[in-house]
Amino acid sequence: MKRIIMTIVLLSLVLLPVYSAKYVGAKKCKLCHNSTRHGKAYDTLFNTKHSKAFAGLVEDWKANDPYCVVCHTTGFNEGGYKMGAPDTYNSKFEGVKCEECHGPGSEYMKKDIMKNRKKAIAKGLKIPSEKHCVKCHDKKKYPWAKKFVYKERLKKIDHRYR
Ligand code: HEC
Ligand code: HEC
Ligand code: HEC
Ligand code: HEC
Repeated sequence: MKRIIMTIVLLSLVLLPVYSAKYVGAKKCKLCHNSTRHGKAYDTLFNTKHSKAFAGLVEDWKANDPYCVVCHTTGFNEGGYKMGAPDTYNSKFEGVKCEECHGPGSEYMKKDIMKNRKKAIAKGLKIPSEKHCVKCHDKKKYPWAKKFVYKERLKKIDHRYR
């Protein structure tokens, strides 16, 4: 029993910093990730379909259907987009924005942490791979999705600068 309690205590110490991380919205990332030196990630991604993915739901009268919303918003049910929250809150999380792929930013977005990849990852930064994409690009859940070839699709949203 003692051992179980110790394990729980230790686990929560490890997981706490990640779970206490909050979604802050892409505008916060724009502060530092929109210069020539940093690849203009914000402007590059602002014009992609990801960024505008919520508009399609509104057009289809499905903006209130959680089945659809989960793939067309950022951080749904994980502290980002919330069903029924006021627009002033939710508008930050409409569409597939930075934190959907890189994790909630409140803990890693500080400059001294961001500069150190290891520290940033410990504070919840994610470097996504194909596995993350196919959570949504999944024909079984959304039959109209086109075939997903990671390398080709990545090119279309690539915002690397290094
Ligand atoms: C205070 C400035 C600042 C803010 C705000 C900021 N970043 Fe960063 N970010 C940096 C710096 C500096 C680096 C280090 C890389 C470099 O210098 O080129 C970095 C690196 C990264 C990397 C690359 C990590 C790696 O090593 O591959 C990702 C991904 C990233 N930031 C995502 C975000 C996201 C998402 C947000 C918003 C939630 C955000 N950043 C907010 C300054 C910032
Ligand atoms: C949270 C769900 C979600 C995740 C995760 C996701 N996507 Fe998407 N993606 C979408 C949706 C929804 C659309 C369609 C938006 C629309 O057309 O309204 C889309 C569209 C696209 C498009 C077409 C965009 C364009 O401008 O032509 C590309 C390319 C793409 N995704 C690549 C990726 C890659 C690569 C990853 C992983 C690194 C990824 N997606 C992760 C939901 C997601
Ligand atoms: C499992 C995730 C997922 C779910 C659930 C989902 N979508 Fe999507 N949706 C996508 C992806 C991925 C794309 C992009 C298709 C592509 O590029 O392959 C997309 C694209 C779209 C588009 C742009 C047109 C198109 O087909 O390219 C509209 C509109 C749309 N979805 C509406 C909806 C509606 C309405 C629902 C609920 C009935 C829904 N989606 C549920 C992932 C999803
Ligand atoms: C659809 C998922 C997705 C979204 C949305 C997204 N990214 Fe990324 N990001 C990636 C992937 C994938 C990589 C490349 C990872 C790798 O190197 O394998 C990446 C890499 C980066 C890097 C590292 C660049 C480098 O040269 O190594 C930074 C910085 C970054 N993203 C910032 C952002 C910011 C800021 C936003 C929002 C404006 C954002 N990302 C939105 C998936 C995403």
